[in-house]
Amino acid sequence: MTISISYMGTKKSLAPVVAEVVSASPPGPLLDVFSGLCAVAKSVAPARQTWTNDLQHFAQSVAQAHFCSQSHPPQRIDVVAKLNQHYSKHLSKQEKIAGNRIAAESKALADYDSVRLNDIYAEWIMYGPLDGGFEQTGDATLFRDTFAGAYFGLLQCIEIDALRHSLDIMLDEHQIDSDQHRWLILALAVALNRCASSTGHFAQPLTAKPANLPRFAQQRQRSVKDCFLSAIESLEPVGNTDWRSRNIAMRGEANSALSSFIGNSDGVPSVVYADPPYTSDQYSRYYHLYETIVLYDYPEAEGKGRYRTDREASDFCLSSRVSEAFDKLISNCVEIGADLVLSYPTNGLLANSRDVLPQKIKDKYGRDPQILEIDHRHSTMGGSKGPGKMNVTEIIYRAYP
Ligand SMILES: C[S@@+](CC[C@H](N)C(=O)[O-])C[C@H]1O[C@@H](n2cnc3c(N)ncnc32)[C@H](O)[C@@H]1O
Repeated sequence: MTISISYMGTKKSLAPVVAEVVSASPPGPLLDVFSGLCAVAKSVAPARQTWTNDLQHFAQSVAQAHFCSQSHPPQRIDVVAKLNQHYSKHLSKQEKIAGNRIAAESKALADYDSVRLNDIYAEWIMYGPLDGGFEQTGDATLFRDTFAGAYFGLLQCIEIDALRHSLDIMLDEHQIDSDQHRWLILALAVALNRCASSTGHFAQPLTAKPANLPRFAQQRQRSVKDCFLSAIESLEPVGNTDWRSRNIAMRGEANSALSSFIGNSDGVPSVVYADPPYTSDQYSRYYHLYETIVLYDYPEAEGKGRYRTDREASDFCLSSRVSEAFDKLISNCVEIGADLVLSYPTNGLLANSRDVLPQKIKDKYGRDPQILEIDHRHSTMGGSKGPGKMNVTEIIYRAYP
């Protein structure tokens, strides 16, 4: 099972088919070079060593946890016991500082008063941090000061900060190891997905309106801590510890990751699975909150969506660069001596991909790829971008020497 987060372009439903195509390749490691939430890597594992790469820290954490961890997630009951003291201390301090604001927000939510709620949120943005923020107090207040009133309510943001901060203390005090710390941050990411007032991504928060207030208020009143604790129970690693000790989870640009294997004597993948982005929507803009919960680094945030200014841009999302990015991807796989299994929809950003990709593959591999066409429902960005799911023809190209 993949981590329970909505993610554009996940291949959860196609993964068994892709795994069957991958099984035709010679034995050896699979490199899922745009791994996302690792749906395909999980379907192939543990039949092969499973190596992954993605541009995002969050996706790398998902892969590290599932494929490389030496420790399981801690039991929920142990987490509660270790967490409570640190959590309560942070929460009660913040409740004293922000008590008036919390009460005002909670009343507006209970009254379904969208006008008051929006006024309150606008005021908070105008006045900035309550107490000078992290730089002056040293207290963990990233979510309180960046996202309160946007994707979450104030109390929810304080809960998020308290949980994230408690996990760091538990790690520092050796109550959990670094693998368990990572698992628990992923559980917190699942809780963010569950509690956010959004359309499943973080390009723009939902605004409270009379028509959506019952649902909006319900989201804002959800306890992040409860969702976090429930999420812990759904996490588990793949394979056994010995198998996981031989996997790698990289973070970087796909073509740089691939070229790092050229001439590498430590082993190369025998098959590369590539599931690049297929629209101009940069993942780093839509999923920045997961980066921030992983990094917790007080990034500069901009726009209504409060996304990180240091977010990465992918050539596969730029119409001026996508064709060259595919050329490099295919050449790199040929140079490594690996088969390439590539997923791409017929309506992707690369124009005429149904004709162009087989030609590019033939030019580099010296033979036509095998082609499998599948009717698929893509998960999209939803919201103002259109429906949350879209019917597409997905093509799986299998290139081999
Ligand atoms: C279509 S999604 C992959 C979904 C994945 N197969 C799954 O089932 O979860 C594309 C992924 O590629 C990553 N990405 C985008 N551009 C990249 C690049 N140039 N190099 C590496 N990863 C990239 C995104 O962060 C995103 O996670």
